[in-house]
Amino acid sequence: MDKNRIIIFDTTLRDGEQTPGASLTVKEKIQIAIQLESLGVDVIEAGFPRSSRGDLEAVRAVSKQIKKPVICGLARATEADINAVSEALKFAGKPRVHVFLATSRIHRTYKLHKAKDEILRLAVESVKYARKLFDDVEFSPEDASRTELDFLSRVVEAVIKAGARTVNIPDTVGYAVPSEFGSVIRHLMNNVPNINKAVISVHCHNDLGLGVSNSLAAVQNGARQVECTINGLGERAGNASLEEVVMAMNVRRDMFKGFSTDIKTKHLYKTSRLVSRLTGIPIQPNKAIIGDNAFSHESGIHQDGVLKKRVTYEIIRPQDVGFQGTKIVLGKLSGRHAFSDRLKELGYSISDTELEKAFIGFKALADKKKHIFDEDIATIVEDGLSTIPEEYELVEFKVTSGNKITPSATVTLSRQGKTLKATAKGDGPVDACFRTIDKAIGQKGKLIDYKVSAVTAGKDALGEANIKVTFDKHHTVLGRGSSTDVIEASVRAYVNAVNRLVLRRKISEKKHN
Ligand code: KIV
Ligand code: ZN
Repeated sequence: MDKNRIIIFDTTLRDGEQTPGASLTVKEKIQIAIQLESLGVDVIEAGFPRSSRGDLEAVRAVSKQIKKPVICGLARATEADINAVSEALKFAGKPRVHVFLATSRIHRTYKLHKAKDEILRLAVESVKYARKLFDDVEFSPEDASRTELDFLSRVVEAVIKAGARTVNIPDTVGYAVPSEFGSVIRHLMNNVPNINKAVISVHCHNDLGLGVSNSLAAVQNGARQVECTINGLGERAGNASLEEVVMAMNVRRDMFKGFSTDIKTKHLYKTSRLVSRLTGIPIQPNKAIIGDNAFSHESGIHQDGVLKKRVTYEIIRPQDVGFQGTKIVLGKLSGRHAFSDRLKELGYSISDTELEKAFIGFKALADKKKHIFDEDIATIVEDGLSTIPEEYELVEFKVTSGNKITPSATVTLSRQGKTLKATAKGDGPVDACFRTIDKAIGQKGKLIDYKVSAVTAGKDALGEANIKVTFDKHHTVLGRGSSTDVIEASVRAYVNAVNRLVLRRKISEKKHN
């Protein structure tokens, strides 16, 4: 293998599953493993077979299904644990056992109650035993970053001699800082005589938010395998995130000259969403690479820059990691450039004066409303146009309602001189009118929002109805109507929404022709 090829060892299904609150069924593990295979990871650590019968079955099921990557199972340095991995990986095409034993003074003293020599002996014996069952053996001196360097070097040399092909250096509690961790790896590369007989791997936790930085420092100092997880899941604060490690090496090729991975970065977004959905652990919006905001621009200055030249404020092409594209979030900080661009995208071509008027309306709305949706923008523009063409006009409506009868309505509309009349029932008088209009026009609307408010004071106050309706699942339109009668205001609002729908469709037809 190319000496600068970085092996990506994904432990989402093992360390990632140790995320508090995350737990996966066998079926879900298989689904994730299939996606990891498409993503191009080299090794999938599928679980810890001795920890439970369920985990053993899950590792077995994954190894039966997945053929391209190496499938790995975790084991403590005991024969029983190693045997469990062997049983779980009986059908695997490329099986690996990952044996771990803590080496740091803290773990030796307080957890294992064993002296250095005893640890060394157990490490060597477990690797020798593992080699009887597996060709591919990985060894991890747990809490390596807090282990005395001379002792760590002795352990690494001894396990390589015993047959470990990969030696993983975990920063188990995320204690290291990059310069220090990089020099631990360099020390091992320079002082362990048989180091070239094994691949040096790293496994960095994120307790100080340095998991990715430590992994990258390790690569720059000789590590050639990185253990990581999708979305940075893992025990406590998690592990180094796969997407960040891979994209850092990818974007900063100048700093990682010649290094490569087999990751198909276009699959990152999809993989990340799948893992989030199945583990139930949401992705923070500002998460690097795959968070919802990773390619969203809110400030007017940034939006203007990105629209002029994407590279002004984006270091990654969104499509390269599986996003659809740059997202310009329209809000109170947006400028004319972003606003008129969105109008063009929506299919509106309006004069400069109309644009100016619409922009003022947009800014006023943005001061009151955090999220401005495309239908808000469409409504602002349509309101600014002298009139919404009245394809449908209300001629007459009648409603029958009461506490002992099912409300029903009859509505008469006219469309270009033609009369359309229908009758229907509903859950209330307003609903009956809306269903009747649907029947008359031959469309079915889904009411998303409905508000009635008084716009003038007094007994004969003018009421205004504001509604939001979705037609054919993807056309959402707003409608407004007023009258001293709230039912009439509602009917007028619905007819107004239908007329906006007609206009919206004409605009989108024009855009696609
Ligand atoms: O964090 C750690 O040390 C581990 C080992 C089992 C590699 O997860
Ligand atoms: Zn770990």
